[in-house]
Amino acid sequence: MSSIVVHNKTFIPYLSEKEIIEKVNALAAQLSEDYQDKRPLFISILNGSFMFSSDLFKRLTIEAEICFIKLASYKGTKSSGQVITAIGLDTDIAGRNIVILEDIIDTGKTMNHFLPQIYNQQPRSLKIAVLLHKPEASVYPLHIDYTCFTIPNKFVLGYGLDFDGLGRNLPELYQLQEN
Ligand code: IMP
Ligand code: MG
Repeated sequence: MSSIVVHNKTFIPYLSEKEIIEKVNALAAQLSEDYQDKRPLFISILNGSFMFSSDLFKRLTIEAEICFIKLASYKGTKSSGQVITAIGLDTDIAGRNIVILEDIIDTGKTMNHFLPQIYNQQPRSLKIAVLLHKPEASVYPLHIDYTCFTIPNKFVLGYGLDFDGLGRNLPELYQLQEN
């Protein structure tokens, strides 16, 4: 892996595809154990979570369902502070065992905005699984049940995460180079 330039910013290699897939494998095994016979419904938050969700979901060995919603709060490399629901939830979640799939928890704003909507519909249980967590960026404290990587408060790119629309296709993760 070598450095890349996206929209005039340089990103340096951070986590390899192999490292990511190892963690996703381990999480899929853990969820398959924890949700045996519970037929969980995974709610994947687009856009950033599509690659993580796909890699995770295909490794589950239990009966499970998945649906997608689209929330957006980022502009460039800074959180805009506003959360927009671009595609809402169209699945009945009352009485279901829900696992929310998110690419990254940064300030916690997106999740904080979305969780009450879920609780209102009275799921049987509700847990959060994330690929990346930046605890130093937390503004809205959250309990996260499953985390693949805890990372420092630096902007990352790749594996579904973008910088102004680009970089989502990279199979590994890069970190913004600070100068
Ligand atoms: P939060 O609402 O501040 O927790 O931000 C969550 C959303 O912002 C994530 O779902 C991502 O889409 C985006 N985001 C946060 N940090 C990064 C990053 O380092 N790179 C790319 N997107 C990010
Ligand atoms: Mg996202």
